[in-house]
Amino acid sequence: MNAIVEPNAKQFFDSVNKWYAGATVRNSPRIIVPEAANGEFTYPRSRQILSEHPKVQELGYKGVAYVLTQSAYQYMYEIGLLETRFVIDCSLNIINNVITGASEEEKLDALTVVIDEGYHAHVAMDYIIQMKTLSGIEPLEVPQTNGNLSAVKRAFELLPAHVHNDFQLISVTLAEHTLTKDLISIGREKDASAAFTKVMTDHVSDEGRHASYFAKMMKAHWARLPEEHKQIIGSMLPAYLDDYLAADEERDFDRKILRASGFSEAQVTEIIDDTQAQFLDNLTSYVVTTKANLVKLLQRTGVLDHAPTRAAFIQHGVAL
Ligand SMILES: [Fe+2]
Ligand SMILES: [Fe+2]
Repeated sequence: MNAIVEPNAKQFFDSVNKWYAGATVRNSPRIIVPEAANGEFTYPRSRQILSEHPKVQELGYKGVAYVLTQSAYQYMYEIGLLETRFVIDCSLNIINNVITGASEEEKLDALTVVIDEGYHAHVAMDYIIQMKTLSGIEPLEVPQTNGNLSAVKRAFELLPAHVHNDFQLISVTLAEHTLTKDLISIGREKDASAAFTKVMTDHVSDEGRHASYFAKMMKAHWARLPEEHKQIIGSMLPAYLDDYLAADEERDFDRKILRASGFSEAQVTEIIDDTQAQFLDNLTSYVVTTKANLVKLLQRTGVLDHAPTRAAFIQHGVAL
């Protein structure tokens, strides 16, 4: 008798079948950055407004490609950090009962998240290495943290240790929801290289599944949290959302790119000043949209049914 054929329908959960059928780690070929892509604009220009500044344009095609390649490295490194230092950690905590209450089926799904996210980090690093080899451009820096991880670290410092694991599940759920929307949006940009776009569209095809999984887990987990935990977490969530969505308005990394492009300190300041209004405009519209989406998620998952949490959001100026 062959044990791997003809399973009884009851033995299989929908989510398992979906993962086997759709997960990129099981179904997608390696993404190769073709030789012909060397010198192409890999990162969407609309996402890096420095590339549109006349002084940067004066550097010519290669100069603009340099700015965009550095931005692509940064984006890929940040994806790797989010996966390996945040989402995988949370999923392992679900599997190992550090975050309590998951069923075995839910743990099985958490294992698929670990595998998917490990693969996404792999794809991102593979892309960086291929780009480095092809372009000869070394990344200006390998970031050790990103805005999301730093906000979680600050939240952990504020929160008592006994709610850290509950908060981790909530912060990962918020991050997975945001990431899904961000990847959809960046994958739609028309002026990125084909390989960059493929990394984004492959990734998002897994993230929709993750976003629903974590939303389901957060809803169940919130419902079984002791009132004291809800009070503590709920009272800091509104400020956490703002902290998590805040960006570096000083634009340190943009300044680094400009210096490495050969601009003097005075020219760096001039280019940053010229583009600052547009930068802040883009940032504000991103934050407003993303925050509204996250508040809807908190509504859907029952978090805002908790009266004190709801009151904390209203007091923080969120219209509910
Ligand atoms: Fe991912
Ligand atoms: Fe994910």
